[in-house]
Amino acid sequence: MKVLIHEDRAEAVNHAADLIAARLRSRPETVLGLATGGTMEAVYTRLIDAHRAGRVSFADARSFNLDEYVGLAPDHACSYWRYMREQLFDHVDFPVGATMLPRGDAPDPEAEAAAYEQAILDAGDIGFQLLGLGKNGHIGFNEPTSSLCSLTRIKTLTRSTRDANARFFDDPEQVPRLAITMGIGTILRAGEVVLLAYGDDKADAAAAMIEGPVSAVCPASALQMHRKATVILDGAAASRL
Ligand code: GLP
Repeated sequence: MKVLIHEDRAEAVNHAADLIAARLRSRPETVLGLATGGTMEAVYTRLIDAHRAGRVSFADARSFNLDEYVGLAPDHACSYWRYMREQLFDHVDFPVGATMLPRGDAPDPEAEAAAYEQAILDAGDIGFQLLGLGKNGHIGFNEPTSSLCSLTRIKTLTRSTRDANARFFDDPEQVPRLAITMGIGTILRAGEVVLLAYGDDKADAAAAMIEGPVSAVCPASALQMHRKATVILDGAAASRL
């Protein structure tokens, strides 16, 4: 695991975005694994700017997002589909149909999860996976105690994760209790992984991920077993290393 610390948050963000752009320039047909959350908004803004400046194209790429809330249709204001359209997809040149997320409103969520895992396998697995970090050490929606070999499936969200994501909803009680998420095993199959985290509230999780034992108690610690994982932190997130 390579750990890169930028004192300045903006430099950490730019570094993560620039790694994605560089990957797309060298291998335009990359299967990207994409993440949501507040952390990624500035990453996507920088990628949109790079696209508008002609420095990156998504025309030959495909993407699979990590996760989606069970029960939210793609056009729901708080769905991750909506987030991705607003934060990235509507502003860059992915081909129609090249951007995938699990359907949160699928009639059979377990079958949807299995089909999503199969679609990732059929695509030859993720080439470049972007990750954020939950305050409790989750990646995607793989909450603490998730199996380190897990595949795409339904997970129950913890109280702390629902609280952390309540800011995106009008009413905290509207935060769904279940999500479809790629598994830790799915993520570990990616050819390259870049995790970005910043801010003091990620410092404990970052320390457990990097210096703690590999343990389901901190799902992100599984990245210690990945051959090509890069963790990019700002000074605050790195303050307990
Ligand atoms: C969310 C998402 C994750 C994300 C993480 C951190 O619940 N499912 O993919 O990386 O939590 O979110 P944020 O960037 O808003 O802190």
